[in-house]
Amino acid sequence: MKTFVNIFLGFFIFESVGAAPTADTETYDSEFYEVPLGELLHPFVYVENEQSDQLETEIGTALPSVTQESYSFALLTEEPEEEASTPKLIDGSSAQGSDVLGLQTHDGLPTCLLCTCLGTTVYCDDRELDVVPPLPKKTMYFYSRYNRIRKINRNDFANLSNLKRIDLTANFISEIHEDAFWILPQLQELVLRENRIRQLPELPSTLTFIDISNNRLGRRGIRNEAFKDLHELQHLYITDNNLDHIPLPLPESLQALHLQNNNIQEMHEDTFCDTKDFNYVRRALEDIRLDGNPINLSKTPYAYMCLPRLPVGNLM
Ligand SMILES: *[C@@H]1O[C@H](CO)[C@@H](O)[C@H](O)[C@H]1NC(C)=O
Ligand SMILES: *[C@@H]1O[C@H](CO)[C@@H](O)[C@H](O)[C@H]1NC(C)=O
Repeated sequence: MKTFVNIFLGFFIFESVGAAPTADTETYDSEFYEVPLGELLHPFVYVENEQSDQLETEIGTALPSVTQESYSFALLTEEPEEEASTPKLIDGSSAQGSDVLGLQTHDGLPTCLLCTCLGTTVYCDDRELDVVPPLPKKTMYFYSRYNRIRKINRNDFANLSNLKRIDLTANFISEIHEDAFWILPQLQELVLRENRIRQLPELPSTLTFIDISNNRLGRRGIRNEAFKDLHELQHLYITDNNLDHIPLPLPESLQALHLQNNNIQEMHEDTFCDTKDFNYVRRALEDIRLDGNPINLSKTPYAYMCLPRLPVGNLM
């Protein structure tokens, strides 16, 4: 039996070496994986190192995303369903008191004058912000990309009980208060890519999507069992950091784990699978990227037995 398994795995590994994208191809291309039709219905395809604008534009489409370099405000049309009926653009001309415009920022401008508030979405991209502006209490989606925010304070998101998505891509964040995020009862998506984060704070268990790629997370950047209780987590992207281990345990709900370009050197047979139960299958986890790490995946052939697909990485 063991011989058979080895032969089988050997063939499998051989096959996937040919099929795996090279390390310098950053674009996730599902064509490489011969994705079964059912999986094409997956809600979104995530493309690394592209503007994250694409995240939502892919919802409802089945096809791998088209490379799109331009950074645009096309997302103004991506309002969630519940806001679909003629969203009101709130600007200075519709001043109805400071409640409507949000609280005043440090510059003395109301948030919704400095940023764009559209329904429950607040867009503060590229506004030269140094701090998170005070947000209207009903805010559900907050975008503040391409700013100069250095620090996330304890109360930056306090009392924002409707907040579902925070996108702080491309700021200078190096410090995040331990309690800044976990107090948010509805937070689903947290995007912190392209910052200077060394230490991940406590995370709320409602998260489905985390992207902390291109930061400075090292050996102690992620505490033990940081993702264990995130039972809804589907996408975890921590590429281009300095991690030296795979953060464990990984929740059963996880579908995609991208850890390319870190410093991971070893893996254990029980990282993904259950060494005591050979019938165990980790069905959801179909997209693991470990390329760009000094790890030899061939050393732990039994570590992938329960997975629907082999991880992408160095198998030689
Ligand atoms: C949050 O709400 C509580 C109770 O309404 C209030 O006492 C507190 O000051 C608020 N915190 C912030 C940072 O707005
Ligand atoms: C990787 O591991 C396999 C199996 O242990 C071994 O045969 C191979 O030589 C290793 N490759 C490198 C580059 O160390």
